[in-house]
Amino acid sequence: MKIPITKPVFDSSEKEAVIKPLDSGWLVQGPYVAEFERLFAGFTGARWAKAASNCTTALHLALDALGIKTGDKVVVPSFTYIASANAVEYTSAQVVFCDIDLATFNIDVNKLKEILCKDKDKEKRIKAIMPVNLFGLCADLPEIMKLAEKYDLKVVEDSACGLGAWIGNKHSGTFGEAGCFSFHPRKSITTGEGGMLITDDEEIANKVSSLRDHGAGKSDLARHKEKGGSLLPEFNVRGYNYRMTDLQGALGVAQMKKANYILKKRREVAARYDEALKEFDELITPYVPDNYTHGYQSYVCLFTNGEDITGLNMEKIDRLNVLRNRFMEKLEEEGIATRQGTHAVHTLGYYKRKYNLNDEDYISSYAADRLSIALPTYATMTDEEFGYVVDGIRRGIRE
Ligand SMILES: Cc1ncc(COP(=O)(O)O)c(C=O)c1O
Repeated sequence: MKIPITKPVFDSSEKEAVIKPLDSGWLVQGPYVAEFERLFAGFTGARWAKAASNCTTALHLALDALGIKTGDKVVVPSFTYIASANAVEYTSAQVVFCDIDLATFNIDVNKLKEILCKDKDKEKRIKAIMPVNLFGLCADLPEIMKLAEKYDLKVVEDSACGLGAWIGNKHSGTFGEAGCFSFHPRKSITTGEGGMLITDDEEIANKVSSLRDHGAGKSDLARHKEKGGSLLPEFNVRGYNYRMTDLQGALGVAQMKKANYILKKRREVAARYDEALKEFDELITPYVPDNYTHGYQSYVCLFTNGEDITGLNMEKIDRLNVLRNRFMEKLEEEGIATRQGTHAVHTLGYYKRKYNLNDEDYISSYAADRLSIALPTYATMTDEEFGYVVDGIRRGIRE
């Protein structure tokens, strides 16, 4: 049996949706992107949703709209996908890494406090925090927002994985000035490539509309519908081409209509894993703090081999890493796809060199990189597929 790490949920509605822009002949950002934005804003409870070509460009737009620039610094967790840090680098601001809490895989608020307390450099000040709501679990956003207020910082949530992530009845991406989502096929809903920025701030929404469209004062569609549309609009800012196509927008509309179903099914798979994996001391299953709802973009465990992992050191992490990798290979041989959760960005060549970092500088991030394991999770997973994965895990661990 072949079990993929994830599978998009498509039926005839996606096929019918993408034909509509083809039939109309309007392919660039247009009515379907607008409809997707409307549905997304409704789902998350944000006042505005602005689509972009992907989440990385949405993050760049958010930082740019907030005025982050050369000489500024932005705090990013050291365990996240490289795109979070890259978006900061696009603005020419500097990345300040912060370690994570291994229990949640999200930014460690105590470490964040230490970093902010020590930020005495008047020339290059920390201007923003980019908490990442990793794998579908919100970071400790209430605490992060208190710190942001205390230190006068902007907050851009990297909510690439955060669809269906809530704290109480507040959706991920709605805590900071802006939140950005990804529709890459590894995410719960997909448009192939695609991103969305949400905000309650009208000024940010207007800036992003223009910045994503070369800095145009008016969108192509608006101009097309108006008298005098033969003339190009005003361009008062330097923008980018970060637009989403209407083909993707149409796909997004079809996906939004099944978002609740997909998220419900993913949570059911996660609950089954929580139960089935209780028999294995070797794996720590995802922790969900009280009042948090996990979206389970990924179901990520920590491989401990049944050992105590408090006070981890590099030697122990490296030793356990060999066992985790062997375990993942074993599952792969059985046709079961797994992935490391994501990577520790401070260990990657560009960041390591530029900021002169060592692997052990952010040890929890290093441990998460070396010991995390994402298990196959998709809405349409059958009982047979689920049973096959759990049997595979049992065999992989016992050997
Ligand atoms: C945490 C995080 N941030 C940003 C991104 C980038 O998203 P995109 O591929 O849509 O640019 C990803 C994608 O996997 C991600 O996981």
